[in-house]
Amino acid sequence: MDWILYVFLSSAIDGTSHILINSFGIHCYLSINVQCFHDLVLRTLMSVILWFMDGNLKTLLILSVVMLTLSSSKLLQLMAPGLEVQSMFGAKGSSPLNERIISTISRNSLAAHPWHDLEIGAGAPAIFNCVVEIGKGSKVKYELDKKTGMIMVDRILYSSVVYPHNYGFIPRTLCEDNDPMDVLVLMQEPVVSGCFLRAKAIGIMPMIDQGENDNKIIAVCADDPEYRHYNDISELPPHRLAEIKSFFEDYKKNENKTVEVGEFLSAQGARNAIQRSMDLYGQYVVESLRK
Ligand SMILES: *[C@@H]1O[C@H](CO)[C@@H](O)[C@H](O)[C@H]1NC(C)=O
Repeated sequence: MDWILYVFLSSAIDGTSHILINSFGIHCYLSINVQCFHDLVLRTLMSVILWFMDGNLKTLLILSVVMLTLSSSKLLQLMAPGLEVQSMFGAKGSSPLNERIISTISRNSLAAHPWHDLEIGAGAPAIFNCVVEIGKGSKVKYELDKKTGMIMVDRILYSSVVYPHNYGFIPRTLCEDNDPMDVLVLMQEPVVSGCFLRAKAIGIMPMIDQGENDNKIIAVCADDPEYRHYNDISELPPHRLAEIKSFFEDYKKNENKTVEVGEFLSAQGARNAIQRSMDLYGQYVVESLRK
């Protein structure tokens, strides 16, 4: 019966092999933390070998030395090859998430890039995906970092103004300033930076930022029951537009940068501008692939 106890004890305790040695008729515990002996069969075998050996103090000492030497040798790695690593990263039966993590680590690939990896949507240029960089009411100028694809803090606005609506860009578009098309999305709630939503273009605000075209698409959230019915900028209260205009006229004043804002154009003007930026992006991709 004793050997069953031996086998049970030595194989049941995870991470540590407790090897019992019958020495001078007394049960002595030799507890060696042999991480490599995870294999149940291996541990059982060790226990049985020890049981059949005529245990005495000399045997115990010799065994201790042998075990400690083994635990630091490559021999043990051969006996139990990387079991823990295999259970975490095993090729067999691993989930798609694990594969994604492993491929990211091993190939040093980028995470999904919101500008290039997110589709504009089948309804473009009328209804399109929009990645929100800045939430309504924020004074923080969050901006897409083109290199990493992450949202970074570009600056805190110099003037005492906050973004009047959620603000972001349209994926897979390109404008003259080498940035994706900017959008101001009218809706009931501020949303978090880095999310994307479905927007509908209702107009465009021509803007010149220090001599460079930097037009802003005015859109409504296509999934906001209060705003989704708007089809054109002319349906908005005039004050709404006046507020948007004065925000863009003021927000760079304390940086000594001149911003000129023109008269708003209709939804059709917005759709044309988006289509142009989609075409420009397409050209840019084709040229990049040629290089
Ligand atoms: C803007 O110009 C004013 C007056 O010339 C100057 O005092 C201020 O430091 C400038 N601000 C910035 C951010 O350059």
